[in-house]
Amino acid sequence: MRNIDEDTITHAVLAAMSKCRDDRLLTVMTSLVRHLHSFAREVTLTEEEWAHAISFLTDVGHITDERRQEFVLLSDTLGLSMLVTTQNNRKPAECTEATVLGPFFVKGAPEYKNGDDMSNGAKGRPCFVSGQVRGLFGEPLADAEIEVWQSDENGFYDVQYADPLEQGGEFQARGRLSTLPDGRFHFRSILPEAYPIPHDGPVGRMLDALGRHPWRPAHLHFWIKAPGYEPLITHVFRNGDKYLDSDAVFGVRSSLVVDWIEHPPGVAPDGVTVTTPFFTLDYDFVLNPAEERQ
Ligand code: BEZ
Ligand code: FE
Repeated sequence: MRNIDEDTITHAVLAAMSKCRDDRLLTVMTSLVRHLHSFAREVTLTEEEWAHAISFLTDVGHITDERRQEFVLLSDTLGLSMLVTTQNNRKPAECTEATVLGPFFVKGAPEYKNGDDMSNGAKGRPCFVSGQVRGLFGEPLADAEIEVWQSDENGFYDVQYADPLEQGGEFQARGRLSTLPDGRFHFRSILPEAYPIPHDGPVGRMLDALGRHPWRPAHLHFWIKAPGYEPLITHVFRNGDKYLDSDAVFGVRSSLVVDWIEHPPGVAPDGVTVTTPFFTLDYDFVLNPAEERQ
């Protein structure tokens, strides 16, 4: 393998991998090398640009730790996460669409009963959420597991506060509950607010250089699981939010944009009197039956 030039280098790299024993790895790496080389040729990548890219990726690695995943943020802001989500969640049009998981999901959130207040002290305007989980043919799904997480009135998730004691050292505005025998669920929480994705690192600098903002429209995250059905990871967005058409991570789908209704102070759906204005959201989820695996 000598005297490789700019025309033969792609073939040389592909030939060097030909003994790969993993078929899928070979397929993926062959395509990656081809596309990377064509990209460098198409833009006639300069040495300075190459060095800049290496330094950018190094910064992405340096800022990443157990609490901060800058590589996922990079994938999200380049639309790769949503592309991978969409092409791996094709289903009938009647089913609820999937969207990105995001970096703020954490395992081990508390379990609640229907009617409980999931905010657990997080600050925000009261919001009463209800809905039904059904299968593709309209069948109500009892005992489906619903996991919810959301931002507070400052646009922060509990895990973003530097001092966890600031919120009593407990999970806030996140939790798990199960659907009732008729597939319905209801809980109290707070109104989620729009927020900027973490933008004090290399991804933020990239967005700025590209003339992009880091904001996501207000949304509530749901992860729903029921035996015999494909799990659903999605959000419900607040209609009217000014970032719906420019979500920094391209996660909005029209079918997931819903009116959250504002009510004057008074009796809330759970029968409790609320002394401030409050919101209600009612949204049904439709799960796709899982494919039978042979
Ligand atoms: C989120 O919705 O929690 C999220 C998704 C992608 C990047 C940052 C945040
Ligand atoms: Fe979010």
